[in-house]
Amino acid sequence: MTQHEAARRPNRLPTTQYDYDELIHEDRVHQSLYTDPGLFREEMRKVFGAVWVYLAHESQIPKNNDFVTSKLGLRPIIVVRDNAGTIRALYNRCTHRGATICRQPSGSARSFSCPYHGWSYFNTGQLSGVPWPEGYGCDFSDPKYNLAQVPRVASYRGFIFGTLNPDAPSLENYLGPVRRPLDEWLDRHPGGKVAFCDANRLKFRGNWKLLYDNSCDGYHVIFSHRSLLAMENRLVAGNTPEKGMAFYKNSPDDGPVYLKYFGNGHHFKDKRATVEKRPGALWEIEGPHPGMERYEAALRARLGENADAVLDLASSEPVNINVFPNLHILGNHVQVSQPLSVSETDTTWWGTAVVDEKDALYGEVDAVNALRMRTQESFPNFGEVDDLMNFEGIQAGLAAEEDEWVYMHRGLDVPGRITTDADGVITGPSTDEVFLRETYKYYRQLMTAEPDIAITREVAHE
Ligand code: FES
Ligand SMILES: [Fe+2]
Repeated sequence: MTQHEAARRPNRLPTTQYDYDELIHEDRVHQSLYTDPGLFREEMRKVFGAVWVYLAHESQIPKNNDFVTSKLGLRPIIVVRDNAGTIRALYNRCTHRGATICRQPSGSARSFSCPYHGWSYFNTGQLSGVPWPEGYGCDFSDPKYNLAQVPRVASYRGFIFGTLNPDAPSLENYLGPVRRPLDEWLDRHPGGKVAFCDANRLKFRGNWKLLYDNSCDGYHVIFSHRSLLAMENRLVAGNTPEKGMAFYKNSPDDGPVYLKYFGNGHHFKDKRATVEKRPGALWEIEGPHPGMERYEAALRARLGENADAVLDLASSEPVNINVFPNLHILGNHVQVSQPLSVSETDTTWWGTAVVDEKDALYGEVDAVNALRMRTQESFPNFGEVDDLMNFEGIQAGLAAEEDEWVYMHRGLDVPGRITTDADGVITGPSTDEVFLRETYKYYRQLMTAEPDIAITREVAHE
């Protein structure tokens, strides 16, 4: 049984000291959105406290008692599948004097013991014991001593989200139409699922929104990722199609690549039309991964005509699916961002593996997953660093505080560039900034409201 508690703002702070209508316009936003520590603190409440935030993937905690640590905004969280199989998001914060109780990134534990003074908690969040209790005059069965937890935790096809906002819509409604590309991305894998494997962890000296702003940006690719494009195409000869992101070299706004804005800050870049629809086409367009040739040759020798479809599963699906505020799916990878401060952000690139319970891959699942891991060497290593350098460059540039505005008006007021469906989904050409403008409209809506943040605590069974 759980008990809800409303969270109170410390010292009854005024809701805001900022005029968000002054700071956020359709064509531009104020630099202080990226540099003001007070505004960042409000975001941790009004953005990360109000919406569904991605926390972890079910494949990271397959068995009861498995856990993984995460963050909800700045709040340290333990995502655990408890002793009875319920997925919970516990605050990683001792109810004694506030220390984190779990300092491992993942593992299996029926209980957590605080390293400071040894208070212990079951993985349901309930306090299980304190050292030398005779020194206390209180009743430790009071739920206030149990760990705080995120009141609403839900999964969408393996992706676990949590929200502190009792008034938030259901997770399915929050995701809305972004579920469609997410479903398509999952459905190309056997059984319609993937498992997370290991990760590439990075940190940059920039605001968390810089990463989100860039996640659907097709305008920068040809300039910022010049060396990656050159590397991907170094061995291309004759009639072989150009590889990787070469599409952006021509007139990208006239091509088949488009972006969509789905509402609630979610957006999508679809590059699939640049790949022919036949087995093997996706594998052919992959950039070179030295050392993979022998795997490919061995797979072709063993599988014959079935090899092409199997190799496609080792290739990166050319989509960017961005779920506000912190989840991105790119190729075979899942990128998660976590703010650290107004000017520092963690970002993690998870590799994903195929799970082949019905042997759709003719016994070759390990070879496919070995090849998939090698795709971490491409964009996550050679492309992401280009982006992080831009984010750090922007953060440095925005220190010039009297030069106030950041523009995002590419496509605005240009007739015929952008269409809106009957259901409100917006479609634009690949280098348009309409996804940014729409995301900041949603952001302004969040920042001008005050969510009723709540936490829960487990109550002892009678
Ligand atoms: S802070 Fe955890 S036991 Fe004291
Ligand atoms: Fe990029």
